[in-house]
Amino acid sequence: MNILFVATELAPHAKVGGLADVMAALPQALAKAGHGVSLVVPLHRGLRRSGEFRRTEREIEVPGVEGVKSARVWEGERGGVALFGLERDEFFDREGVYGEGGVDYPDSLVRFQFLARGAVELARYVEPTPDVIQVNDWHVGLVPAYVKALGLPIRTVCTVHNLGYQGEFSHTDFEKLGLPEGVFRPEGLEFYGKMNFLKGAIAMADAVTTVSPSYAQEIQDQERGHGLHEVLRARAKQLTGILNGIDMVEWNPAKDGALKNNFKVGSMAGRVECRAALEKEMGLEPANGKPIFGMVTRMTRDKGVDLAWGEVERLLRRGGRLVVLGAGDPVLEEEGRRLAQLYPKQVAVRLGYDEGLARRIFAGADFFLMPSRSEPCGLTQMYSMRYGCIPVVADVGGLRDTVQEWDKKTEKGTGFRVLPTAEGVAAGVDRALAIWDEPAMMNEIRRNGMSKDWGWGSAVPAYEKVYQSLASKPGRF
Ligand code: ADP
Ligand code: GLC
Repeated sequence: MNILFVATELAPHAKVGGLADVMAALPQALAKAGHGVSLVVPLHRGLRRSGEFRRTEREIEVPGVEGVKSARVWEGERGGVALFGLERDEFFDREGVYGEGGVDYPDSLVRFQFLARGAVELARYVEPTPDVIQVNDWHVGLVPAYVKALGLPIRTVCTVHNLGYQGEFSHTDFEKLGLPEGVFRPEGLEFYGKMNFLKGAIAMADAVTTVSPSYAQEIQDQERGHGLHEVLRARAKQLTGILNGIDMVEWNPAKDGALKNNFKVGSMAGRVECRAALEKEMGLEPANGKPIFGMVTRMTRDKGVDLAWGEVERLLRRGGRLVVLGAGDPVLEEEGRRLAQLYPKQVAVRLGYDEGLARRIFAGADFFLMPSRSEPCGLTQMYSMRYGCIPVVADVGGLRDTVQEWDKKTEKGTGFRVLPTAEGVAAGVDRALAIWDEPAMMNEIRRNGMSKDWGWGSAVPAYEKVYQSLASKPGRF
């Protein structure tokens, strides 16, 4: 089968969050399984500079909000996946992917309409024509509408990585999109009088997937559906939750070049050195027999960063340390800065994006704190487990599907799940501190997490099943 992915991010050079990692891994996993796979992304500054894409002579004409403009096609190849970068510098040659300093660029509508329309235009030229276009998140949410409006014989799958971001615009913007009037209706892009890109994709795609089975359930409830629960319920039969994996080669503590020392199950001395190196790098006073908690996160309330800040003083009274790497909401960043200044030897907060440091936190911290209020899947808890850092996570979404609760009797389990509340986080920290004093159990939990296969093995057949269900519909493919 021929599958074309469309997304805004691609690790490592155009990355904001887990979407980038998934785009760097899932298409390759499908290619390895024998499919013809390609990926279209905007040619962000980071991608152009990466040297992975080369400029071609091909230009496509894209009917956009500001009239027809051309996009130069750049090409590359990674792990059997054909990469296409759409060059249009006024839209994509920018420092950020979505915005800067926590503020979105003001022209999201124009940029992402161009991307979606451009990707569909490209899909017409790619040889062979894709059977399926898989659209990822709201930025490319117009793809199913264009595919249908143009009558292309291509099926679309909408993959929701985060329902919290939907791309809402005024109804007056609709006429700028060049779509038939009928698309602005409850079965299409219209949502309570406004235009909503993600809703449009959910409603119009031939199938909908999201990134964990628990999240697929949660988002059909009013409480967790971000307003779209009814739209999702209406598509329940075509909605599948497929758990993300991680790239087990890219994320391997036995080979990771960002670490001071490497380590693996059965040979953990390197991890002890990584821990000491992390304390040093972050300017922390040695933890004196107490654990280090780590966080690597976009700084948002959804990620429960405020809950972590609220727990800091109690954690410190009990001797723990906290190391945080993240960027995002200026208010949360400010609170982190304040706490780090107040307790410079016990709390370290690095604001910004730093892939190497992220890896050193997974490899050096004892526990990974992730009290997300909402978590479609989450990859960092899997990276932590892979690197021997025990996760203390909220009992939601993909965290529930990946972190198995430690059970003393059976000696099974990879971490702790708690409620995403102040009390829940306090309870999680208490459990971590208690287990810390039981080294045999600590080792067992660690080993469980490190020995698990977190790869894409089971996701591939699950996606294939979704594609096949579309292929078997009459009149398609
Ligand atoms: P989300 O996509 O919601 O942010 P995920 O856990 O799926 O959450 O993925 C986050 C990805 O971004 C991981 O690869 C994580 O290591 C990375 N990441 C997040 N914040 C930072 C940061 N400040 N510096 C480096 N990497 C980061
Ligand atoms: C989103 C979600 C995260 C998920 C990632 C990749 O950014 O917030 O939970 O892991 O997408 O699917």
